[in-house]
Amino acid sequence: MIPEELQEKIAEKLGDTSHPKEKAVDVMYLLQEYFGYMSDEAVREAAGILAMTPLEVDELATFYDFIYRQPVGKYVIHVCDGVVCWMDHEGSVFSYLCRKLGVAVGETTPDNLFTVLPTACIGDCHNPPSMLINGEFYGKLTPEKIDEILDWLIREDIECIPNR
Ligand code: FES
Repeated sequence: MIPEELQEKIAEKLGDTSHPKEKAVDVMYLLQEYFGYMSDEAVREAAGILAMTPLEVDELATFYDFIYRQPVGKYVIHVCDGVVCWMDHEGSVFSYLCRKLGVAVGETTPDNLFTVLPTACIGDCHNPPSMLINGEFYGKLTPEKIDEILDWLIREDIECIPNR
C-alpha cells in the first residue's frame, strides 16, 4: 500500500487523462523514487493504477534503462554503451570502473554505494567516453577523472553520515 502523499503525486501526474497507460513511465518513476526500485510490489501498484496487467508493467519496466527491477546503489552509474563512446575507447570505462569498484556490469558494490549499468547513447557524443551518475553527465572520461569523481562521491557520502 502506498502512502497518501504518493497517491496524491500520482493522481496529479495522471491529471484528467482517460488513458492512464500514457503516463506509465512517469508513474513508474514516482513509484521507483519511493520504493528505491520497481519492486514486485511497485509493479503490482502500478498495474492497479494504470489499468494494466503486472506483466505489461514488467515488460515496460524492463524495457527502460532507467527503471530498475532490482535494488540499486545510492549512485547509479550509467556508462554509455553507444557507438561513439565505444568506438573511441573500446569499453575502457566499463573495465576500469568495474575493476576499481570490484563489481561486474549490472552489479552493486557491497556497501550499496555504486551500481554500474550500461546504457544506450546518452546524447553526450561530443564528449566521449561519457557516463551519467544519478542523472549528472560526466564526459571525456579518463581513469584519473573517474578516480576523482568516485573519490568525491565517496567523500560526499561519508560527510552525510555522522560518526562514520
Ligand atoms: S555514443 Fe556515448 S554519448 Fe552518444
